[in-house]
Amino acid sequence: MTINLSTQVILVTGASRGIGKSLVKQLAGAGATVAIHFNEAQKAAETLAEQVGNGSQSFQADLSDLEACSRLFENVLDTFGRIDGLVNNAGIALPAPLGAPDEEWEQVWNTTMFVNLRAAELLSRLAIRHFQQKGGGRLVHIASRAAFRGDTPDYMAYAASKAGLVALSRSIARGFGKDCITSYVVAPGFTRTDMAQAFIDTYGEAYAVQDTALGQIPFPSDIAPTVAFLLSGLADHATGATIDINSGSYVH
Ligand SMILES: NC(=O)c1ccc[n+]([C@@H]2O[C@H](COP(=O)([O-])OP(=O)(O)OC[C@H]3O[C@@H](n4cnc5c(N)ncnc54)[C@H](OP(=O)(O)O)[C@@H]3O)[C@@H](O)[C@H]2O)c1
Repeated sequence: MTINLSTQVILVTGASRGIGKSLVKQLAGAGATVAIHFNEAQKAAETLAEQVGNGSQSFQADLSDLEACSRLFENVLDTFGRIDGLVNNAGIALPAPLGAPDEEWEQVWNTTMFVNLRAAELLSRLAIRHFQQKGGGRLVHIASRAAFRGDTPDYMAYAASKAGLVALSRSIARGFGKDCITSYVVAPGFTRTDMAQAFIDTYGEAYAVQDTALGQIPFPSDIAPTVAFLLSGLADHATGATIDINSGSYVH
């Protein structure tokens, strides 16, 4: 079986670091031209675009700003003339303790919902409309096991945003399959990135490992091949599916 993405332009959000960066390498390695979205890490995104080649380019947008999301999609479309796949990967995990001041609670919930869910919803809408015009396309949403098992009380906003992403993906899969549009969720558990490191620094590595069946925390490169497979067309009849990649730490 060969995964060949050489005819595809794929937009990956949050692609400057962590899981997104690994996705870019995997997708470009299979031949895709990748639109490498970043927010602050401009140099990292530019260097990555040069490294992976295939005409891949970097694009800036703060996804907490819906207008910036629309501009991002239009910029990518203007640059490449089409988009064949969208990976909603960018995400943030901010704590909002129950006892936090109201203003802080409100801000964390709003920012989390904008970056993790609203940006994905808006980019998906623009992608679906574009895919309808060009005869199809694929979406992959990077959620979390937290969408299914919940998270610690401080991270309820994170878990809720990821559950929204799951419902969004399933609705897209059910609603737009006849337009040759497919949609999937990949739901990681702890993965070795800056996001997980902040947690590990606080609670210790043993805490993160203890739940896993495999006794180890995966690397971003353990997530990326599944996403390439889903975008390849080899899994179109799995549309609507969620693939768990959490080292057996949550099985449902
Ligand atoms: N790591 C884990 O343990 C884990 C577990 C389950 C699910 N996930 C999910 O996997 C995805 C990737 O996570 P990760 O661990 O790779 O995260 P990460 O290392 O913290 O990287 C986050 C990425 O999102 C971008 N980003 C953050 N805030 C943004 C904003 N306001 N606007 C636009 N982009 C923004 C960052 O861009 P810049 O650096 O350019 O600012 C960066 O590229 C997330 O959706 C996360 O929820 C991760």
